[in-house]
Amino acid sequence: MKNLLATYPRSFRRTLIRNRIVRSLLILFIAWNLVELHLILRRISETDIIYREQPRRHERIYIAMVNWNNEFILRSHLSKAITELSWKLGPENVYISIYESGSYDNTKGALVDLDAELDRLNVPRNITMSSITHADEIAAPPEGEGWVITPRGKKELRRIPYLSRVRNYSLEPLHELAKQGIHFDKILFLNDVVFTSNDVFELLDTNDGDYAAACSLDFSKPPYYYDTFALRDAHGHEAVMPTWPFFREFSSHYAMKNLLPVPVKSCWNGMVAMPAAPFLANPPLRFRGIPDSLASSHLEASECCLIHADNPLSTQHGVYLNPLVRVGYNTAAYDTSLDDVSWLRR
Ligand SMILES: *[C@@H]1O[C@H](CO)[C@@H](O)[C@H](O)[C@H]1NC(C)=O
Ligand SMILES: *[C@@H]1O[C@H](CO)[C@@H](O)[C@H](O)[C@H]1NC(C)=O
Repeated sequence: MKNLLATYPRSFRRTLIRNRIVRSLLILFIAWNLVELHLILRRISETDIIYREQPRRHERIYIAMVNWNNEFILRSHLSKAITELSWKLGPENVYISIYESGSYDNTKGALVDLDAELDRLNVPRNITMSSITHADEIAAPPEGEGWVITPRGKKELRRIPYLSRVRNYSLEPLHELAKQGIHFDKILFLNDVVFTSNDVFELLDTNDGDYAAACSLDFSKPPYYYDTFALRDAHGHEAVMPTWPFFREFSSHYAMKNLLPVPVKSCWNGMVAMPAAPFLANPPLRFRGIPDSLASSHLEASECCLIHADNPLSTQHGVYLNPLVRVGYNTAAYDTSLDDVSWLRR
C-alpha cells in the first residue's frame, strides 16, 4: 500500500490518505449508529409497558381541557377515551373541566353528547361553552392587557394572553371545589389527542409519581414531534432535533436513549400531569403571557413555558417528558408512534 502511494506526488498522496481516513470514520460512524439503534430497539422491546386496568397509585385527578373546533376528534376518539378514563379512575376520584370557546364546527354538539355520557356514569364535571370566538375578541375595542402594536402599525390581540385566559377558565372550578372541601392530587391537562387510559396511567406514574410536571410526547406527522413551541431541554435550549432522539443536551439525550423520564425545562406535548397544590396556593399558579411591553418588541413566550418557570415545584421536583407515553393528533399518528421502529426513524 505504502509503496503504491509513494509513486504519487506528495499533495495527491495527502488527499488520498485524508479521503481514506474520512471514509473509515464515516463507516465507523454508520456502524456505531446501527449498533446503537439495535441496542435501543432491544431496550424498547424489553421495556414492558404494563397494561393496567387501574392507575398504580390511588390519586384524585382533575382533568382540564380547552376545546376549539375539535368536533372530529371528539366524536372519533376523544369523548370515548375521556369516558373510559373516568370510569377506570373511578367517577368518585375525578372531576372533568372543559372550556369551549367559539368553535366554527359543531364542537358544542359533540360536548353535549359527552356531557350526557358522563352524566350516565355520574362523573362530576363542568362543561362550559362560550359563544365568544377568537375573532370576536379581535374585533372588540382594544383595551386592557393582551394587545400589542404590530409592525403593521395595528393594535392586535395577542394569541398567548388569549390562550392563557381560556386555559385559566378551565381551572376555575378547582377553586370552587376547594371551597367545598373537595381536593385533588394531580391535574391532567389534555390536548385534542388520541390516547388510551393506559397512556394516562403511565404518565401519572412518571418518575414514580414525583414531578412538578410530566408530559407525553406528541406526534402529528411522525417521526417529527409536534409541539416545538413549549419543549426545552434540561438547559432550557430550544435547539432540539425534530426527530428522535430530539435532544442534544447530555442529560436529556441520555435519558431519551435509555427510555427514562427525560429531564426538561419545559414541555407541553399532548398530555401534561401536574400536582394540583400550586394551583391552589396563594397566589395561585396560573397561565400567563409576558407583558405587552415585551411583546411589542416581538418577543413572545408560550403560556405553557411560563407555567413551568412560575411553578415553585419545578426546581425541586423536576419537569419530565416520558418517552414511554406517546400520543397523536390523529389515529394514524398515534398508531405510528406506537410502532417501535417508526418513531425512531431519523
Ligand atoms: C389567569 O387567571 C387568573 C385568575 O383567574 C387571572 O387573574 C389572570 O388575569 C389570568 N391571566 C390571563 C392572562 O388571563
Ligand atoms: C363552570 O366553570 C366556569 C368557568 O370555566 C365558571 O364560570 C362556572 O361558574 C362553573 N360552574 C360551576 C357550576 O361550577
